[in-house]
Amino acid sequence: MPILNSVYRHREAGHVLTELVAYRAAGGFAAIEQSIGEMEPDDLLYVFHRSGLRGRGGAGFPMGRKASFLPKDAKLAKYVVCNADESEPGTFKDREIIEMNPFQLIEGMVLAGYAIGADRGYIYIRGEYEHQARVLDAALIAAREAGFLGDNILRSDFSYDITLYRGAGAYICGEETGLLESLEGKRGQPRLKPPFPAVAGLYSSPTLINNVETLSALPPIVTQGADWYAALGPEKSPGTKIFSVSGHVQRPGNYEVVLGETTLRELIYEHAGGLREGHQVKAVWVGGSSVPVLGAMHLDTPLDYESLNAAGTFLGSGGCIVMDDSGCIVRATLRLASFYRHESCGKCTPCREGTNWMERILQRMVDGEGRMEDLELLESLFGRISGKVLCALADGAVAPVASAIKMFREDFVAAVTDGGTPRPAPMSVVEVR
Ligand SMILES: Cc1cc2nc3c(=O)[nH]c(=O)nc-3n(C[C@H](O)[C@H](O)[C@H](O)COP(=O)(O)O)c2cc1C
Ligand code: SF4
Repeated sequence: MPILNSVYRHREAGHVLTELVAYRAAGGFAAIEQSIGEMEPDDLLYVFHRSGLRGRGGAGFPMGRKASFLPKDAKLAKYVVCNADESEPGTFKDREIIEMNPFQLIEGMVLAGYAIGADRGYIYIRGEYEHQARVLDAALIAAREAGFLGDNILRSDFSYDITLYRGAGAYICGEETGLLESLEGKRGQPRLKPPFPAVAGLYSSPTLINNVETLSALPPIVTQGADWYAALGPEKSPGTKIFSVSGHVQRPGNYEVVLGETTLRELIYEHAGGLREGHQVKAVWVGGSSVPVLGAMHLDTPLDYESLNAAGTFLGSGGCIVMDDSGCIVRATLRLASFYRHESCGKCTPCREGTNWMERILQRMVDGEGRMEDLELLESLFGRISGKVLCALADGAVAPVASAIKMFREDFVAAVTDGGTPRPAPMSVVEVR
């Protein structure tokens, strides 16, 4: 298994992959040795392309295709930017990859840099990840000292280094163009696209932006081959994916599975240990909080991009939030609406005002001041927000609200007719793995 499962195996064997010697002993940096100066950059790009790897940050765009959009004849410098902002609620996989396997990310960034002809890579890490930033800092120094970063890597003509940049804790800085603005030292607000970052990204130069998990998948793709990776899972959703499972489960944590081979039920009940005794699944946000919510009837859905789309949601970041029947869907939806209202950067009126209205209407339903026409009022807002803005934050704000009303309409009606929603009983503490 490419990313975490291999790490767990080595952890059990007593290896700590945050040390360069241990990473080397586990086969680390073999992909760099195999490709830098040994393969043409275009051939390496073709390996990424053939693997079918899709971006793991949320949108699922094919990594190799995105990398091929960078102009080949550009006179400007090219950059690789690693998105380590990880602020999607329920998502904590990048944190663990960095904590436990920082060199695999660094190696993946060097491979991506070589394939596109980049001069430099940047890791944009969320400000709260202090420990992870320290781990990365130490790993970057060690990789540089060992000759895997810096001038003439492994005595080739390829020179490339990575700079670590710490963000300041805004969700919108995870959106790729908001991230680039922030990295340039400006206010983190999304840009109008096109031009896309591949053409005009960091400092207006061609830039490849990928998530931590996406870049960390590159070394095993190179060493074990594109065909090996493409054969894991369904044709359109190959490879493995890490799901961060949280909420009402016995064993919250990160679980790496082959796409399409595991159902949502298996993820919750087998990997994450199931729910508390006597409770059933009420709602699941399987791809982070920005995706339509699923219910108990969706538990047998295989975890891959297409199957989840067919079930009416998205794989997103793989942040799987589970709520059992002791939870209140109206309150949970309000909590998410409040998050998006708070995190809207305010640049587009429909998002700035619409997220505010969604929160206010849901709040009055919870408080017992809701009106029957509030459901229609909320529904009338969705079409006035989605697709009328600069970035996908607004769609992500609408999706959990619109889907919850569709799937659990009776709960919202009851909030109005019963004069609000009762405060749920406090959750019993579960042991974290
Ligand atoms: C509001 C918003 C927040 C986002 N936050 C993140 C994030 O924290 N990490 C991430 O990798 N992608 C995030 N994305 C997706 C990025 O814009 C971009 O698609 C991603 O970094 C591309 O990498 P990938 O192709 O490897 O997935 C966010 C998108 C939006 C609209
Ligand atoms: S959609 Fe919202 S978050 Fe995105 S740019 Fe517009 S106001 Fe900012």
